[in-house]
Amino acid sequence: MDFVNVADLGHEGLATVLDLAAEVKTNREDVAGSRAGQRVGLFFEKPSTRTRVSCEVAAADLGMVPLVLKQDEVGLGKRESVEDVGRVLDRYLDVLAFRVFDHDNLVKMAAVTAAPVINLLSDREHPCQALADLQTLAEHRPLQGATVAFIGDGNNVCNSLLIAGLMMGTTVRVASPPGNEPSTEIVALARAGATAGAEVFVTNDPAEAVTGADAVYTDVWASMGQEDEAAERRQRFMPYQVNEALFHQAKDDAIFLHCLPAHRGEEVTDAVADHPRSRIFDQAENRMHAFKALLLHLT
Ligand code: CP
Ligand code: NVA
Repeated sequence: MDFVNVADLGHEGLATVLDLAAEVKTNREDVAGSRAGQRVGLFFEKPSTRTRVSCEVAAADLGMVPLVLKQDEVGLGKRESVEDVGRVLDRYLDVLAFRVFDHDNLVKMAAVTAAPVINLLSDREHPCQALADLQTLAEHRPLQGATVAFIGDGNNVCNSLLIAGLMMGTTVRVASPPGNEPSTEIVALARAGATAGAEVFVTNDPAEAVTGADAVYTDVWASMGQEDEAAERRQRFMPYQVNEALFHQAKDDAIFLHCLPAHRGEEVTDAVADHPRSRIFDQAENRMHAFKALLLHLT
């Protein structure tokens, strides 16, 4: 089974991986070495801190050998076709995990490999992030019936959170500037997979999204690869900054989430990022537990 789209796990698989993530967080030793001898390839077309390190540590804890592949050496789709890279790596590795610009390259790879292909972030989704997001929210309150407000760009992180959140019974409200809302295709996919009671709302009004929410989530305004739009976006997204005034419109015990890296002073102020109810570093830690659970589920 692949994990290219967050929905690939199915409802039962997603719930199983989240339960397992909580379990391996508490009992780290129980699964230590349980995948000894297997090899996981990690490939990055874009920079990474959390994903690279948490995945390497998770794999090593399970006794797997992590191999980090250099993008300029592999030349995915340039030095040789994406499919041929997949076919070759499939002969050496037990898991292929890729961070790519073009989501379609993951789909192409998954079509020709026997080994599971894991999406470590693409232009469309960041499914491993969504696992950690939901794990962190579940540490605060049950996912069924929870409400998350995602403020900012309807991007890869937003897409995976929307789909996975609704699968788990969590309502997701998105507030984006006009033109930066999640696509109608993603919203329809999220609705189609929703557990009863969970809904998706898309608005241009951040206060409307945040009011009464259990968690407020934001991400950078310009994702990797959009650096040339950063200045223009900084102007247009400023009304969507998560500052104390906005955060305080959520529930009194609401938590703050961010996938990181954060551009402090842009999408989030220091006061919110460092707020006692900010869970951003738990969330970063959970990337490791969630990835370990995913590896256990897929291998
Ligand atoms: N959240 C996340 O994926 O971080 P990195 O880009 O540092 O891996
Ligand atoms: N949306 C961001 C997430 C980084 C983890 C990006 O794609 O750059």
